[in-house]
This record gives sequence, C-alpha cells and structure tokens, in this order.
Amino acid sequence: MVVSEMISCHGLTFLQQKTWDMIKSVPSDRPVAIQLFGSEPEIMGKAAALLEKEPIDCIDINMGCPVRKVTKKGAGSALMKTPKLASEIIKQVCANSTKPVTVKFRSGWNHQSINAPEFAQMAEESGALALTVHARTWSDGFSGKADWHIIAKTKDSVSIPVIGNGDILSHAHGLAMMVQTGCDGVMIGRGALGKPWVFQKSSENPTLEFRLQALKRHLQLIETHTNPQWALAKIRNHAGRYFKGLHRGASVREKIYQMKSFPELQNLVDSLL
Ligand SMILES: Cc1cc2nc3c(=O)[nH]c(=O)nc-3n(C[C@H](O)[C@H](O)[C@H](O)COP(=O)(O)O)c2cc1C
Repeated sequence: MVVSEMISCHGLTFLQQKTWDMIKSVPSDRPVAIQLFGSEPEIMGKAAALLEKEPIDCIDINMGCPVRKVTKKGAGSALMKTPKLASEIIKQVCANSTKPVTVKFRSGWNHQSINAPEFAQMAEESGALALTVHARTWSDGFSGKADWHIIAKTKDSVSIPVIGNGDILSHAHGLAMMVQTGCDGVMIGRGALGKPWVFQKSSENPTLEFRLQALKRHLQLIETHTNPQWALAKIRNHAGRYFKGLHRGASVREKIYQMKSFPELQNLVDSLL
C-alpha cells in the first residue's frame, strides 16, 4: 500500500490546485491512502468528504508529524497531547467518508509522556480501522534508535491491525519487526529513498547496472507525471541516493550532482548504462 505525503485539509477545502495536484496517483499505486493533516475536526471532515469520489482506498490521519509549522497549530504529533481533540477529528473524518480511516502517530510527545497504547485505544474507539506507530517521540524527531517495544505494547492494547514503523532498512528487517513486536504489517520511510527495491525479498547488494536501470525507470516516471525542471535539486538528491553503499558509488554521485538539467541527468544515466 502506498501512502501520500501529508495533505493539508485547508488546502483541499480551499480548493488550492497545488494541494489537489499532490493527491494524484496512478492505478498501479493502488491500494493507495491519502494522508490528511489538520487540527480542526470540522475542516478535516470536509476534506474527507471532498475525497469521496477520488480513486483512493483509504484516508490516513497524520498525528505524528514533528515539524514546528504543523505542531504549533495543534496538528501532527501535537495531537498526542490532546487526545480528546484527536478523537473528535477521527470521528468527523469517519462520519464524512465511506473509506476506511487509519491513524498514524508516534510513541508519545516526549519520554515523560509515552502514551501510544492509550492513544491507540482512543483511536480504535473513535472509529479508526488500523493504526501505524512510528516508534519515536516528538522530542526524538528522526534521530536516535526507534524503540520497537512501544509497537508491541500498542499492538497488545487494541484489536485492530497495527503497522510498525521506524528504522526498517530491508525486507528481512521488516519481518524481524513483525516477529519481535507482533505487529500486523510494517511501514518503510527513509529506507526506500533511492532504494525502491527495499520491498523485495533479495538480500543481495544490487549491482551498479541494476541501480542504473532502476534510476532510469524512476526518471521516466518523473518525466511522465511531473515537470522535472521544477524540482531538479530534489531529483538529483534522490538520484544520488541510488548509489549509496556501492563500491565507487561516490564518483557516480559526484557526476549526478553536477548535472544542470533533467535531460543531462537522463543522458548521464544512459551513458553509464
Ligand atoms: C523527509 C521526510 C518526510 C516525511 N513525511 C511524512 C509524511 O508526510 N507523513 C508521514 O506520516 N510521515 C512522514 N515522514 C515520516 C516517515 O513516514 C516515518 O514515519 C519516519 O521516517 C520513520 O520511519 P523510517 O525510519 O522508516 O524512515 C517523513 C519522513 C521524512 C524523513
């Protein structure tokens, strides 16, 4: 299953084109979830209603984002401090959508207030059909090691499926999380950057040719679905990641970072192939 990046409920309800562009997907992405963020139950409900006719399979609610711009408005992981408001949001989204509603959150706000198991119970009682737990607190940000124990505790506290998240870097590692925590599935974030093969079983370190072929396909998809010139720096960053952990990968990365246009980058990949 693919989950979109988080989408502002205000952007959707104000009919901002830029926000609506962010929910675009293609049939091969499905099942696909659109992740909403916001702190006002009514607007979150309206945004969910607007998604009703979209070709999507699930609405996920973000209660885990640690970014200040989001938390200062009471959204994202700040909702872990206001479970009553979080419950109202989940209820409103459920009431305004026929799609399954899921919630993603963290271990807690900080190490003195770890509340993922209780938060999970609240989410289940409010209507969520599955949950994802990122095993870090807001105060951890993205650093330090994710504490998978909290995933096991959360799983034990509810009867709906729990998806574990945090630090998974391979297929085998994902299975290890399922065994260690009893979770029903796993979510992979950073481990998939520049490494779309992370979801496959193979434990082999992919060759240069395999990585170049994968990047070529990624660039083709970017060309088909976006305007590549708008985000060249971002594309170069993703492209460079394909060669991490590879003997002489640094020299390929260096060449990539020198590319001044998207066609130049495509030509480089073709010439290396
Ligand atoms: C650049 C970046 C953007 C992210 N955006 C989102 C997001 O929009 N929604 C979300 O639920 N999580 C988002 N995350 C968090 C990841 O989904 C994930 O929970 C976190 O990185 C821990 O998992 P990992 O160790 O597999 O990366 C983001 C993470 C990063 C690094």
